[in-house]
Amino acid sequence: MTFDEEVLRDYFAQGPQDVSLDALDLGRIPRHVSIIMDGNGRWAKARGLDRSQGHVAGVESLREAVTTSVRLGIDVLSCYAFSTENWNRPQREVDLLMGLFAKTLVAELPLFAQENVRLRFLGDIDALPAKTRNTFVRGLDETAGNTGMTFALAVNYGSRAEIVRAARILAERAQAGEVSPAEFTPEMLSGELYTAGLPDPDLLIRTSGELRLSNYLLWQLAYTEMYVTDVLWPDFDKWDYLRALVAYQARDRRFGGVVAR
Ligand code: IPE
Ligand code: IPE
Ligand code: MG
Repeated sequence: MTFDEEVLRDYFAQGPQDVSLDALDLGRIPRHVSIIMDGNGRWAKARGLDRSQGHVAGVESLREAVTTSVRLGIDVLSCYAFSTENWNRPQREVDLLMGLFAKTLVAELPLFAQENVRLRFLGDIDALPAKTRNTFVRGLDETAGNTGMTFALAVNYGSRAEIVRAARILAERAQAGEVSPAEFTPEMLSGELYTAGLPDPDLLIRTSGELRLSNYLLWQLAYTEMYVTDVLWPDFDKWDYLRALVAYQARDRRFGGVVAR
């Protein structure tokens, strides 16, 4: 995806001491960046606030991550917002999150229009409360014609459930005689995942310091570079994003091969 270098320089003008846009090779921007947005609860607790306040504050970080990704010309930004395991949280928190998703999505539609962002969801959105599901469908409809960045939001997403679902679809196709199990390929399975058609993530960022995947994109992250920061999600800003990208560019991606030195 293309970007306007002048707009980008302006966007990243006057930053903190330790990082600047000059450290980034603009010719090697990753295509797909994925983020596990974690630490909202701890952010709120540290301020003596309710966990829900952390989720509300996290929305601002998400908006900034979308804008930053667009400025950088990233093709796909995916973000983990609610896992299949997050239903186990107190009902009050689940309700708050479902309401926040609906409200935020409607509020951000003008941003998506302005930035030419196409929305997509990863996960079983049919199982969401009606109001949330309806706003998501509206978001899909209203952004379907946008040709810029794809913003994929993982809601009611679990990687194991996703892989089982894909396996079931392939098994049904085999049972119908359309394909023989012996002909199954990784590409066929990829094609039945929620991420079908998207490139695998180049970079995975996880905030709040946790060193685990929490059932996120287990298949798609096979060769993704991982970056974990202690910064809590509501504090994560464009400079933290830039730090992650600079760290990413310092990596050798070998994909099992060797790198000539
Ligand atoms: C991430 O923040 C947001 C969601 C999982 C919805 P958390 O709510 O997990 O925050 P911590 O990890 O408890 O701090
Ligand atoms: C992962 O965070 C899910 C999202 C960020 C949406 P969690 O906070 O649910 O993960 P665990 O429980 O710490 O592994
Ligand atoms: Mg968490």
